[in-house]
Amino acid sequence: MKMPMTNSTTPLAWTERYAVGVAEIDVQHRALLDILNELNRTGLRASGTWNAKDALWKIFEELNEYAAYHFLSEEKLMQLHLAADGATARHIAQHRNYWVTISEFKQRYRDGDMRVTDDLISFLNAWWLDHIQGTDMQLGAQLNQKEIR
Ligand SMILES: [Fe+2]
Repeated sequence: MKMPMTNSTTPLAWTERYAVGVAEIDVQHRALLDILNELNRTGLRASGTWNAKDALWKIFEELNEYAAYHFLSEEKLMQLHLAADGATARHIAQHRNYWVTISEFKQRYRDGDMRVTDDLISFLNAWWLDHIQGTDMQLGAQLNQKEIR
């Protein structure tokens, strides 16, 4: 039975809803959502088959590179402007845990798991939207309090 591909068919267009209020972060989030959108479009072609997996994995590597750069940018902003408190530690832990999950997907890909592309795309869409609208939104508010915009 084929699973509904809700996550892969829903375009992740930028809206003000995703704005955290810090220009550097918002510009990077827009770029991340653009890459995710490309991944979603490619994922539709790769869905349930092993077709287009190479194209998909190439975009995935692009997303990984940009995500690493982006996490570093956010963590630098935290270091520069915020206290190293529980919220900061939890935020950095979320970034670290992201890579743990990404490694698991890479292993499934190497193992030839047919479901890996669909699961990966679902995870990425859910994780980024949740992280941006939750944790990063709180970070934005904290930075705004320090006049960082
Ligand atoms: Fe973040």
